[in-house]
Amino acid sequence: MKKQMLKVALPKGRLGEKAYKMFADAGYDCPSILENNRKLIFENEEAGVSFFWVKPSDVAIYVEHGAADIGIVGKDILLEYEPDVFDLCDLGMGKCRVAVAGKKDFCDNPERSLKVATKFVNITKNYYSSIGRNIEIFKLNGSIELAPILGMTDVIVDIVETGTTLKENNLDVITEILPISAHLIANKASYRFKTEDIDKLKRELSKKD
Ligand code: PRP
Repeated sequence: MKKQMLKVALPKGRLGEKAYKMFADAGYDCPSILENNRKLIFENEEAGVSFFWVKPSDVAIYVEHGAADIGIVGKDILLEYEPDVFDLCDLGMGKCRVAVAGKKDFCDNPERSLKVATKFVNITKNYYSSIGRNIEIFKLNGSIELAPILGMTDVIVDIVETGTTLKENNLDVITEILPISAHLIANKASYRFKTEDIDKLKRELSKKD
């Protein structure tokens, strides 16, 4: 009988590369994934896995709809979109934070609403409502740092990992809002049907060297 495959959605970019390495170290490798080509799906029938690369913010969509059984997402995505998936575990990698940042000389004027650029609309709304600050949100999809540099907004709410992007653009962290790390998520029905396989993979990924 053909082995049941686990379909894994990996986020393109830094986090996905780290995540793939964790899978490979845990015995779920798929060497063809490292070839420099435009293929999107990679399979290792023997290990029983197939991987595909998607935009980080799309991982949870593929998992929620069962196109992927499991996926790797930052906690930021789980908090922002609240997808209907099982959050199986914190993988303890891909650590960064969501922070408010602005120009070095930024000074908040509480008399007017604060202009905030972000791709995390819900996280931003929740944070500012928790501190009772009026804001106007400018939803962007990338290169958020440009907004205060060009004077479109006062601040940004964005991911800070190494801090290089802020530093190279003369911006500073004003407040850290949330610590973030990568989580393993599963489609709810897949988890019921493939509990044993998914739990085994989760144990292998959670093993510390
Ligand atoms: C993310 C984030 C910051 C940057 C932070 O951007 O939005 O711009 O990484 O990382 P650093 O602190 O290590 O410099 P991403 O690379 O995902 O691209 P984006 O601008 O399209 O969001």
